[in-house]
Amino acid sequence: MAANGTFRLAAVADLHCRQDQHGRFRELVKMVNGEAEGLVLAGDLTDHGLVDEVKTLAEVLTGLRVPCAAVLGNHDFEGGVVKEIVRILGEAKVTVLDGDHAVFDHRLGIAGVKGFAGGFDKAMLQAFGEPVIKAFVQEAVNESLKLEAALAQLEVEKKIVLMHYAPIADTVAGEDLQLRPYLGTTRLAAPCEAFGAVAVFHGHAHHGTLEGKTPKGIPVYNVAMPLIRKLMDDKRFRVFEL
Ligand SMILES: [Fe+2]
Ligand SMILES: [Fe+2]
Repeated sequence: MAANGTFRLAAVADLHCRQDQHGRFRELVKMVNGEAEGLVLAGDLTDHGLVDEVKTLAEVLTGLRVPCAAVLGNHDFEGGVVKEIVRILGEAKVTVLDGDHAVFDHRLGIAGVKGFAGGFDKAMLQAFGEPVIKAFVQEAVNESLKLEAALAQLEVEKKIVLMHYAPIADTVAGEDLQLRPYLGTTRLAAPCEAFGAVAVFHGHAHHGTLEGKTPKGIPVYNVAMPLIRKLMDDKRFRVFEL
């Protein structure tokens, strides 16, 4: 434990691991072991959601000496083998969260969902008109409800939220304006605030902004690896004292 009682959490998203990238993340795992007490992965662990890709990643993640929790991202769904991906990650001791939670060292609670798109603030897509629009909005509502349930189950005082999509517009700023509504939705922010999360971590917006805040002031961190690499001197992950 850090001297002042804080938890040192490593966070990163958007690894986009490909089948032939054996050992690519070995250095990252080594550094996380040395610098942090736990690791969270905020989705897009694989590039095309393929079994061989997740096997390549899982092989290196078995080298972790700290607990690891993850959520999946849209890319992890592409291959249609999500159950298999979750199973393989589970064998590598990575807890994949989908509306549930993990607790690191009895003191840091992590509530996780993938999240979904739909846009932000006044421009948020509403459930109106065609059934397919309503279904799209419903997916975001469902993810938000799942997050609420996950947070409600957490009994530790210090809770964080892990998701792939962004809950605020500020951390997708920098992305193409036309693309932003597909990178997250404000619907995901309310549960984080209602249950007093100390921080939110997401990815997906590779060209977004590193940090923002929910309307009530909860820090939101975009930990997409391409963004961290670009803006933080080629670093591969961030460490937060929580
Ligand atoms: Fe990504
Ligand atoms: Fe993504």
